[in-house]
Amino acid sequence: MIRLENLHKDYKVDGKMVPALRGIDLSIEKGEIYGVIGHSGAGKSTLIRCINLLEKPTSGRVLIDGVELTALDDGKLQQQRRQIGMIFQHFNLLSSATVADNIAFPLKLAKTPKAVIDQKVTDLLALVGLQEHRNKYPAQLSGGQKQRVGIARALANDPKVLLCDEATSALDPQTTNSILALLLDINRKLGITIVLITHEMHVIRSICDRVGVIDGGKIVESGKVVDVFLKPQHRVTREFVEQVADSVELKEAVSHEKSANDRTIIRITFLGEQTYQPILFQTMQETGTSFNILQGTISRMKETPYGQLVVELEGDADRSRQTIESLRGRGLEVEVI
Ligand SMILES: Nc1ncnc2c1ncn2[C@@H]1O[C@H](COP(=O)(O)OP(=O)(O)OP(=O)(O)O)[C@@H](O)[C@H]1O
Ligand SMILES: [Mg+2]
Repeated sequence: MIRLENLHKDYKVDGKMVPALRGIDLSIEKGEIYGVIGHSGAGKSTLIRCINLLEKPTSGRVLIDGVELTALDDGKLQQQRRQIGMIFQHFNLLSSATVADNIAFPLKLAKTPKAVIDQKVTDLLALVGLQEHRNKYPAQLSGGQKQRVGIARALANDPKVLLCDEATSALDPQTTNSILALLLDINRKLGITIVLITHEMHVIRSICDRVGVIDGGKIVESGKVVDVFLKPQHRVTREFVEQVADSVELKEAVSHEKSANDRTIIRITFLGEQTYQPILFQTMQETGTSFNILQGTISRMKETPYGQLVVELEGDADRSRQTIESLRGRGLEVEVI
């Protein structure tokens, strides 16, 4: 659906060319929600703006549905851009226009007949839950409502792709969740491909199927959210995963318990259906191991439930090894801490 091939972007700063993107290769499938996460200055905004050529790459190719955007003249590019909607951190609404007129704006640009526009605006207002706010001005809306207007406007021309540049970064946690739920709903109802950038792992974990971690203008790690989240490889990825972990209590518990001999501390990860099965207790019963739960969490990545338990095994090293093998044999991820 979206292919970025060896994308480079240099900015001219004080007469010198400074690289912001350094060889990005990325394939995003039709209908998926793809997240790009990175620290400030990593190149996230540059990357997402290169997808619709709001920012012109220095070199490399951008293809959408097989059409190479980087090879089009301005007129054709303008046309192709209608297939790509975009929403922004600070909403970018027209302050002197009503909610309905903001949503109608791209339709007017596309010379859509008035009757069609009115119906379309009504449908979009219903989709984003703003029916009652049709004639209000942006200043009369909350941040979350403004972003809903931004989303409705981005969807006006029935795009195939929705680009989200830090769409929830200006919102409080509760409003963030309601906007993420709306994006997921839109993705499912309309089958629209969503690319979002963020510096929050919570956003990635809530709605993304796959994730790319960007650092210094390069993708340093990528894959399914489940894999990247549970087995982060790169230092930057680990930092982001820590954002959503209850790591403080754990460190305390582990450093306290480590002083004792004859104890093995392990982290067990349960994924999907395993999360709700009594695998741990069955295994411990079989191997006759006593154990102590130090910490536990159950959460979700999009619709995949997962659990992590930090467990202290008591007894000699051989028995602990046997227990670990037995847990792994049942398909659990076990890491010795
Ligand atoms: N218009 C510009 N002119 C010059 N340099 C720029 C321009 N836009 C971005 N840069 C530089 O390019 C690099 C990447 O910036 P970018 O805005 O893509 O980062 P980001 O990951 O979106 O950061 P943030 O999380 O702070 O929004 C930074 O070093 C930035 O200073
Ligand atoms: Mg940015």
